[in-house]
Amino acid sequence: MHVAIIMDGNGRWAARRGLPRTAGHVQGAKVVRRIVEAAARADIATLTLYAFSCDNWGRPPGEVATLLRLLRRYLLAETSYCAENLVRVNVIGRRDRLSPDLLRAIEHSERMTAKGSRLHLRIAVDYSARHSILQAARRALPGGASGAETEFLQLMNEVNHSALATQGVDLLIRTGGEKRLSDFLLWECAYAELYFTDCLWPDFDEDGLHQALRDYAGRQRRFGRLPQAADAAI
Ligand code: FPP
Repeated sequence: MHVAIIMDGNGRWAARRGLPRTAGHVQGAKVVRRIVEAAARADIATLTLYAFSCDNWGRPPGEVATLLRLLRRYLLAETSYCAENLVRVNVIGRRDRLSPDLLRAIEHSERMTAKGSRLHLRIAVDYSARHSILQAARRALPGGASGAETEFLQLMNEVNHSALATQGVDLLIRTGGEKRLSDFLLWECAYAELYFTDCLWPDFDEDGLHQALRDYAGRQRRFGRLPQAADAAI
């Protein structure tokens, strides 16, 4: 099962306590630790977390710096836990705008955890789904996309299996009360079940994850087909 999470609400969590927004991100990073452990316990195969979007560069420089510092700190602190607990870490998104320090931490973490087979943890950093689909299409077409006669959807099916290299999302969770995808895993969420909760990310916990998983278990996934009973009645 692939679960993806848009971790929203850090800023509001901090504002409600009269704290700077960055304090919300610090608390949010602690919750990441707990949810990764809970996901491994819940036998989730892949967990993709939206940590920093391409559009987040537009936030105040101090907030951007805090977010990227927290990411680096997280990778440095958690790599040994991940390696010991068979959690494979990958960072998805652009790498050309990240600092050498953060890049080193990412590469170190990916190398040290490469053998992890229990949970695949993917952290989206400088990530935009539209950008990643375009990049994947460019890679899939030798010589570039121009003049290609391939039908776009056919091409993108290829892309999905090769260059994007990820299974579809089964359950997308968004905390913080907003109901939108914010340029996250647009291709992979084609048939994802969506779960929105008002809980702010720093307040999210293992119980919240289990509640989302229970809700998902009650959904009927049809992938555009008829429910099984109706299928048999034809
Ligand atoms: C959205 O909340 C959250 C983010 C932009 C960043 C998410 C980052 C973390 C949870 C911490 C670092 C991540 C890792 C993997 C260690 P917001 O700031 O938009 O909240 P608001 O909507 O209440 O303003």
